[in-house]
Amino acid sequence: MSIRATLAAIFGVALAAVLVAGGAFYFAVAEMLVFQRRAEASYDDLKLHVTLASDASRYMNEAVKSVLHGSVSEELTSAAEATARDLDAIEARKRAMIADEEIRESDEESAEEIEHIGFMRASFARIVEGVAAATHVERERTNERHEMLVQLSDREYKSEFLPHISAAVHDAERDVARILDDERHLRARVALLGAAATGGALLVLVVLLGRLLRSVDRGFNSLLDGSRRIAQGDLGLRLSVLDEHEFGRMSAAFNEMASSLRDAQEARMRMEKLAAVGQLAASVGHDLRNPLGAVRNANHYLKKRILGTDLGAEPRVAQFLSIIEKELAACAKIISNLLDFARERRPRFAACALRPLVDDAISVVEIPPRVRVDNDVPDTLPVVEIDKDQFRQVLVNLIQNAAEAIPAEREGRVRIAAERTGDGVTLSVVDDGTGISEETLARIFEPLFSTKLKGTGLGLAISAGIVERHGGTIEATSALGSGTTFVVRLPVREEPEAAEPALTPTGTQGV
Ligand SMILES: Nc1ncnc2c1ncn2[C@@H]1O[C@H](COP(=O)(O)OP(=O)(O)OP(=O)(O)O)[C@@H](O)[C@H]1O
Ligand SMILES: [Mg+2]
Repeated sequence: MSIRATLAAIFGVALAAVLVAGGAFYFAVAEMLVFQRRAEASYDDLKLHVTLASDASRYMNEAVKSVLHGSVSEELTSAAEATARDLDAIEARKRAMIADEEIRESDEESAEEIEHIGFMRASFARIVEGVAAATHVERERTNERHEMLVQLSDREYKSEFLPHISAAVHDAERDVARILDDERHLRARVALLGAAATGGALLVLVVLLGRLLRSVDRGFNSLLDGSRRIAQGDLGLRLSVLDEHEFGRMSAAFNEMASSLRDAQEARMRMEKLAAVGQLAASVGHDLRNPLGAVRNANHYLKKRILGTDLGAEPRVAQFLSIIEKELAACAKIISNLLDFARERRPRFAACALRPLVDDAISVVEIPPRVRVDNDVPDTLPVVEIDKDQFRQVLVNLIQNAAEAIPAEREGRVRIAAERTGDGVTLSVVDDGTGISEETLARIFEPLFSTKLKGTGLGLAISAGIVERHGGTIEATSALGSGTTFVVRLPVREEPEAAEPALTPTGTQGV
């Protein structure tokens, strides 16, 4: 996981924990408020029932007095009104509780409580009726009045009215008990939730922080170690890509840096080698050219003097003379190659048709009869601005190599083609010879690299230098056993003289 993602996760977890704790707190406060409302409602309920019980007993008191005196007193009427008001108030309160979503109880309990009120109301109505009846019995029948009252009081008040009041009080007590129970449960739930959220968040934070620290530690150590080793010159070092995130990207960038450092070092070494080879070529070529010229002249003179004589008629002498001439010509070629490589002459650009130039180059190369060479460069190809002599040398080198690549025991074909491409001309020399292995292909443009017995290994290095000085590119593709293709791309020149580019053959398959 990336450092940024880990930090984001840490903040996320912390925020989630805060939100959970906040949510639990909010939930607890909201629940507490509801409990408070329910407790208040239950308390009011209880209070009303107590008032009802007291008003009802006052009524019964007054009822006894009224029955004994045989007339309805004002107190009796007021106690009856107070009890009826209490019953109305209890019923109104109960219905309000049923309608209130927050404090309502189960439908069954509510129905039961409303039923109690109904019973009390009916029972009280019967008591009032009974008291009225007992009060209206004639004065003389005092005992009968008294008995009616006792019966009424026993039957109606004690067995009907009072049980409902105590049932209602019991209901209110049960409500209060339930509220306390609910509150205890809520506290336990909130505590559990808080502990779980805090514990979980802590665990996740510890794991994330641990991973973050380990990843940072590994990343720093790896980079530190890599920097030390690079400083000690180990440019081939590649850090293992730790992960695909920050340190992964850093180690990838580090590897890229190490790789460009190594490329730069290799390029510098190649340049140094080229410069050294160039100097060597120049001095060897220069030092050998004059003595070799003298030897060739002397040989020419001796040959002329000997050939007309008896000595010249000896077959061995004639054979040796021709060997000397051939080998001196080979030496002259090597010296001319060395000087060509060392000179790096600036091209003298002039308009030139490619097809006749290719014909010219083919005529210079020694081509065995089993090798067919086709010049497929179209006549219609526009003339290009090149240094004719230098570019002919490129063609000669490529055609010579192609012809030499055809194995001696079979026939082969070399084809030179060219076409106009977007911003220049592309010329290809294709052969169906032995092909080049991958390792060799990587080195063919190196000066002095050759796989041939008598090769100087300068042909392609010289050609690459010339093409570069023309502002073009040269590259080779090859398949072992099937042949090789060299492709030269030349840009269309707009300026009469191009700035002279540095000679930098890459040593790989293309420059
Ligand atoms: N067409 C080709 N097919 C196969 N191998 C090739 C071809 N062209 C070049 N090579 C390889 O590239 C090497 C370098 O070629 P280059 O022309 O620079 O030197 P050379 O031919 O060996 O010697 P010389 O200096 O005489 O040309 C050759 O020795 C050969 O191994
Ligand atoms: Mg060659």
